[in-house]
Amino acid sequence: MSNQKETRYVDVPGPGRIPERDKGRGPVLECTHLGIEFGGLKAVEEFNIAVGATEIGGLIGPNGAGKTTVFNLLTKVYQPTHGVILLDGKDTHGMSTAQVNQAGIARTFQNIRLFDKLSVEDNVKVGMHNNVKYHLPSSVFRLPKFWQEEKRAHESALELLDIFGMADLADVKASSLPYGAQRRLEIVRALATKPKLLLLDEPAAGMNPSETEELMNNIRKIRDTFGIAVLLIEHDMNLVMGICENIIVLNFGKVIAKGTPEEIQNDPVVIEAYLGSQADETGSEGFAASAAKEAQKKKAEKEKAHMSEVEEASVDVEE
Ligand SMILES: Nc1ncnc2c1ncn2[C@@H]1O[C@H](COP(=O)(O)OP(=O)(O)O)[C@@H](O)[C@H]1O
Ligand SMILES: [Mg+2]
Repeated sequence: MSNQKETRYVDVPGPGRIPERDKGRGPVLECTHLGIEFGGLKAVEEFNIAVGATEIGGLIGPNGAGKTTVFNLLTKVYQPTHGVILLDGKDTHGMSTAQVNQAGIARTFQNIRLFDKLSVEDNVKVGMHNNVKYHLPSSVFRLPKFWQEEKRAHESALELLDIFGMADLADVKASSLPYGAQRRLEIVRALATKPKLLLLDEPAAGMNPSETEELMNNIRKIRDTFGIAVLLIEHDMNLVMGICENIIVLNFGKVIAKGTPEEIQNDPVVIEAYLGSQADETGSEGFAASAAKEAQKKKAEKEKAHMSEVEEASVDVEE
């Protein structure tokens, strides 16, 4: 099911492993013993991961498993009750949402959050405010510096939009874009903050198969164009298995498996806890059903091979 070459991984000190190609740069993200409690509920506990500088990682698990909470911890929407988050080796303890964004983490949300009344271009410019250097006097008096910055912002916004073939929509009001384009715009706006790590919360939700296919290509394009890491939460197993190099499975706030798509698809604990139930819910022949069938087929083949070995052996004996 995975349509990419398997990534070679190397162990790093601390909580995990990263792609061999990222070894020289160290992990862009490291979480150790990360956790949060709401009242008595441990929404996330003992979350330990490392993400390589150009790695595409996936976070999967049933509804309520704690996936979005992990993103909220990484972006300081919630301050962790336990553990440490290192961004590019730097402890983000005590940082605000704005500060971690400035330090290099950008995200999109499970439910689209755009400035509906603003144009597409202005939505992207909002993301760029981190990097645009307006000085109060020059913007109040509209001095040349202001217009230079304005021109630079306009050009960068168009450049970013162009990557996703959206430059010609720059003047359109965000709310009048079709659904798929709104989701794309949200990603472009996140990229405008120049992140080192992009977090995508269910980017394919509500998309049709061709939009999802396009999204997959765009996510790869983002990684290759900007050389950044992407961590995504997604239920669409074709997307997850198709583009994620490393996958973390959460269940009831705990990591129950970590591994390559291959490893995750063949992990009985994961199939039991998540992939199996996913097929039941959708009632369709989704990933889980086909994975289960595949496993069944392999088992049958093994048994058959074993039987014929036994038969051959017994034939030998008879001879
Ligand atoms: N602010 C909060 N207060 C109390 N409980 C919360 C809060 N945020 C999330 N939770 C709980 O944490 C658990 C994980 O939620 P969430 O991270 O949204 O799951 P997922 O994204 O995997 O579907 C759920 O039981 C949810 O109700
Ligand atoms: Mg969620």
